[in-house]
Amino acid sequence: MAEPTDFLPLNGTDYIEFYVGNAKQSAYFYQGAFGFELVAYAGPETGVRDRASYVLQQGKIRLVLTTSLLPDSPISEHVRLHGDGVKVMALWVDDAYKSYEETTKRGARSAGEPQTLTDEFGEVRISSIYTYGETIHTFVERKNYTGAFMPGYKPRKSTAPVAPVGLKHVDHCVGNVGWGEMNTWVDFYAKVMGFQLLLTFDDEDISTEYSALMSKVMSNGNGYVKFPINEPAEGKKKSQIEEYLDYYHGPGVQHIAIATDDIVSTVGELRRRGVEFLSVPASYYADLLDRVGHIDEDLKPLQDLNILVDRDNEGYLLQIFTKPVEDRPTVFYEIIQRKGAKSFGKGNFKALFESIEREQALRGNL
Ligand code: FE2
Repeated sequence: MAEPTDFLPLNGTDYIEFYVGNAKQSAYFYQGAFGFELVAYAGPETGVRDRASYVLQQGKIRLVLTTSLLPDSPISEHVRLHGDGVKVMALWVDDAYKSYEETTKRGARSAGEPQTLTDEFGEVRISSIYTYGETIHTFVERKNYTGAFMPGYKPRKSTAPVAPVGLKHVDHCVGNVGWGEMNTWVDFYAKVMGFQLLLTFDDEDISTEYSALMSKVMSNGNGYVKFPINEPAEGKKKSQIEEYLDYYHGPGVQHIAIATDDIVSTVGELRRRGVEFLSVPASYYADLLDRVGHIDEDLKPLQDLNILVDRDNEGYLLQIFTKPVEDRPTVFYEIIQRKGAKSFGKGNFKALFESIEREQALRGNL
């Protein structure tokens, strides 16, 4: 029997847009600390009256940081309620009109009808649907466009030298949803977007003494786009997912995992620039090689930088998690280097979640 055709072919992540309180200062953080280059801008100087947006790029990763210039607008309301957070996970497609039609006819709620944006560099076609919470997916078709980002944006360069840290592409984006809602959103990605279930983690896999969650990983047909979905689980004390939901005031993006080819160099540089990471006790490294077998890297720099290692049937991976990058304990980043492994570091969950619990306790939220 022929494979069913993928009704929503995706080429990868196009951009991730944050709504923030002060995009100018956020852009400085992502340039200085994470090594993203400023490539485009939209705002009053380019004829946009209600907002300012900074487009930052490193490798294939594109971040858009948007702030409202008005006291009352959907953007300022989003920031008031959620704090700085991810509004758009944009997906790169060959046909934004068809992507909209195929998903809305399967039940997706529209967040923006298909439209064609044009300027002297060609045209970009976009359309948007809602996913969990107030988060949306925008389908971006840019095969007939040669400009810096999109019509409405003008090229703009960083005003200080930017040194990239080796961030390559988005590996996966994780969403936190409410109690009992994980399967609703798993079904959404399966039915509406044609994704498949890749992995399941239940509360047995990933509960520590206190904090617990359940997670299912959804992947699109070619595996370029992976969306794990978490929901809180009952533990002795407050789930880390519940803490997120309390501070974000609803479901939203929990973390963005970014791939590097040299995690020791990337994390060393991020640390030198002041990016804060979760830490595990030294005991994690005492029997690490017994757990994961031979790895190419020296153990010492991994331990010095607090980088975690896990192995699956296909290889191993190295990973580390930042602390939240806002004052609210909401969105954070994962830096990941895959050496064959296609999984998500299940062997590190216990050490990692104990580390998160220590942070929760410091915030008075455990
Ligand atoms: Fe992750």
